[in-house]
Amino acid sequence: MIKNICCIGAGFVGGPTMTVFADRCPHLNVTVVDINEKKINLWNSNNLDNLPIFEPGLAEIIRRTRNINLFFSTNIEEAIKQADIVFISVNTPIKTSGIGAGEASDLKWVESSARTIAEFAEGHTIVVEKSTLPVRTAQVIKEILDNNQINKKNINKVNTFSILSNPEFLAEGTALNDLENPDRVLIGGSDELSINALKDLYLNWVPIEKIITTSLWSSELSKLTANAFLAQRISSINSITAVCEVTGGNIKQVSKAVGLDSRIGDKFLNPGPGFGGSCFKKDILNLVYLCKYFNLPVVANYWDQVIKLNEWQKERIYKKIVEKLFGNLSEKRILILGFAFKANTNDTRESAAIQISKDLLNEGASLVFYDPKVTKKQILDDLYQIDEIKKNSFSKNISFSNDVYNAAKGSDAIIILTEWAEFKRIDWAMISTLMRSPSWIFDTRDIVNDNDIKKTSLNYWKLGNAQLD
Ligand code: UDX
Ligand code: UDX
Repeated sequence: MIKNICCIGAGFVGGPTMTVFADRCPHLNVTVVDINEKKINLWNSNNLDNLPIFEPGLAEIIRRTRNINLFFSTNIEEAIKQADIVFISVNTPIKTSGIGAGEASDLKWVESSARTIAEFAEGHTIVVEKSTLPVRTAQVIKEILDNNQINKKNINKVNTFSILSNPEFLAEGTALNDLENPDRVLIGGSDELSINALKDLYLNWVPIEKIITTSLWSSELSKLTANAFLAQRISSINSITAVCEVTGGNIKQVSKAVGLDSRIGDKFLNPGPGFGGSCFKKDILNLVYLCKYFNLPVVANYWDQVIKLNEWQKERIYKKIVEKLFGNLSEKRILILGFAFKANTNDTRESAAIQISKDLLNEGASLVFYDPKVTKKQILDDLYQIDEIKKNSFSKNISFSNDVYNAAKGSDAIIILTEWAEFKRIDWAMISTLMRSPSWIFDTRDIVNDNDIKKTSLNYWKLGNAQLD
């Protein structure tokens, strides 16, 4: 009988996932641990506005579970000791140096988590991969756990481990709904008892037919494939935005017509400035690396193209802005609306806003940023990325505002990069009186109502749309 579960990594995945486990399984004790003390303090903060991540509905569930059966702690050893199941939910960024740099995932934190589990676990422990990982990482974890048993000083105390893969499919911004009503729960492994133990936890709220079991490798590969397919749809529709702009097509109409084919479906066909988030790029790069490793260059190139198209989309948007502003951005003030990689999250990892803003800054533009949830510090960290030279040259051209109308004053252009609901309510007639003419609105998320803008003197460019060009 599973009583205690522990999750290593209190991030965008570990935090919400364990909160839902605690909420749906009141008989369980759930402890989320992290090496980052500051983050744990924020998770424990009395003021729920201070949680380290913003996710709609999360604070409510934390309020009813925290310190009842949900605990956030830095005492990793104790939590592992007590745990019947340990979830590994640490980050796995792309390696920046060495073999596989720029493509393979850096598994150093997964490895160190496995070593810590090997050292402190007691009795039989089920170790669950929650992080998205390259295929066959479970083997690495298994070898570490098995070898540490051999090295243990106290050979009388033999501990046993089972390894399962249980990928997360939650999307930020809708994480709680995705966790509470999942399309499917995937459990990969070979040890029936452990699979059933984890399955029993999910059965507290997930219908049995939605829980599927596979081999470890199929589970790991399914996660990469699902993300690659989702990203591929976005690159596909984004490629057509460019075709619409030159042919006079309308991407919304095309997307609707295509999506109504039940074989295709209407989800993930929204055009945008390029996909961001911590997973899509990383997972495709992992897939590409895997294919190259196993000598499948045609497959590797096929998936690599999805990323290339994504980079191209950001570049062509930036170039379009420069072109419309007479090829010169110096002395021009541009308001960037939205910095998160999508609405309803404060996460900026791989956000299209980062590259587009950097390119505009390199052209000499002065940028004013407004995002309802992303902090000023986060935006600066993303723009400078420990690059002191950039910091010196950019800093005088960066400012922040928490009021769209104030920020619009004297601006030459406004660029909408994240689809925050509040941007849909902007009074464009009012904005047109505040900006410097000729003033431009660049809409990459189809936020602005065409009729509203037509009544103003604003120039309007909408992604995938030639009509108002
Ligand atoms: C997740 C997944 O786990 C990753 O595989 C996926 O591809 C992206 O999403 P996420 O929860 O979004 O990661 O990452 P993050 O918000 O950075 O949280 C990871 C946490 O793990 C951090 O708080 C970090 O401090 C913690 N950590 C890292 C540990 O506690 N121990 C470590 O050894 C390393
Ligand atoms: C994704 C997967 O959806 C999720 O299953 C996985 O577990 C983690 O990675 P996430 O990155 O949080 O989730 O958000 P998602 O909604 O998939 O959006 C990713 C990016 O694609 C965002 O930048 C978003 O703006 C963009 N996007 C999404 C589009 O441009 N168009 C769309 O139609 C959908």
